[in-house]
Amino acid sequence: MTSQTHGISKTKYDKASLISEIKRLKRQHDALIVAHNYQIPEIQDLADYVGDSLGLSRQSALSDKKIIVFCGVHFMAETAAIFSPEKMILIPDLQAGCSLAASIDVSELKKWKKKYPDAVVVSYVNTSVEVKAESDYCCTSTNAVDIVNAIPKEKRILFIPDMFLGQYVAKITGRDIIIYPGECHVHARVRFSDMQKKIQHYPNSDFLIHPECGCVTNCMHHLASGDLDANSTYILSTGGMVKHAKKSNKKQFVVATEVGMLYPLRKENPEKEFIPLRSDMICEYMKMINLPKLRDSLKYLQYQVKVEKKVATKAYVPIRRMYEISKIKK
Ligand code: 13P
Ligand code: SF4
Repeated sequence: MTSQTHGISKTKYDKASLISEIKRLKRQHDALIVAHNYQIPEIQDLADYVGDSLGLSRQSALSDKKIIVFCGVHFMAETAAIFSPEKMILIPDLQAGCSLAASIDVSELKKWKKKYPDAVVVSYVNTSVEVKAESDYCCTSTNAVDIVNAIPKEKRILFIPDMFLGQYVAKITGRDIIIYPGECHVHARVRFSDMQKKIQHYPNSDFLIHPECGCVTNCMHHLASGDLDANSTYILSTGGMVKHAKKSNKKQFVVATEVGMLYPLRKENPEKEFIPLRSDMICEYMKMINLPKLRDSLKYLQYQVKVEKKVATKAYVPIRRMYEISKIKK
């Protein structure tokens, strides 16, 4: 009992001292900390800005701070580094990758481009810098539909790498889209039967579904046929979920995305209830960043995300187009 109490207070003490050290180092370096919605709560609480992948790159680009600590996964930090080469972009753990980004490499994309030489390549931001450099447009889950709609109607589109987001965009826009068969291991496992079970238990909830989920096409089919209620089913980016939960009159929400998302939703809406669609939706890459790693990142200015100039110049073009369509000025 004594040692347990001692253990708890020691953990608390370490955590509190780590937090104050992080705050001190942040002030000392005049750094900005940004954190994705899936980060652990302690990291979200320390961040100047918490948001979705578009919001994070927007804040990094617009900030006048010279040092940005990017608490997210590598491709997100890389995107910020491409767009803001004059800034020092740090990621607290270089191993924080993404299974979706890893599902296509540049040689595979080149093969696809050869197969469909007239297609315009739209790459989801969850891709490596080399893949972006071979793309015409970038998009995130927030703006994928807008980006595709901005491309001349007669153009065929090659959408990479997430097949569920690609199918969703194709259905909404009605465009001729060739979809690459990539997926995120966290979202792909979601089945329509998971939805059906939760609908039975929580019939009065809103259902917030990330477009990377494996059930998206099925949901859209059931929405079209009226089997799913269009007034309680929403396909949204993580940032879109935050906005929706805030403005909705509903008291209960079932959330179909990585479980880290529940923290910002509950924090912003303490009077509402948020239920995970599946509690096993955990992205181990997003969870790699913790307080000691954030402290070390600020203390030793590690790990800097640098992109080779030649590749960065090419990758800048599709990112810039995305920002222009999403009305981000720089
Ligand atoms: P958002 O852009 O919706 O935050 O999604 C990023 C992501 O990696 C989802 O798995
Ligand atoms: Fe990548 Fe999936 Fe993790 Fe998002 S949840 S960062 S897509 S592995």
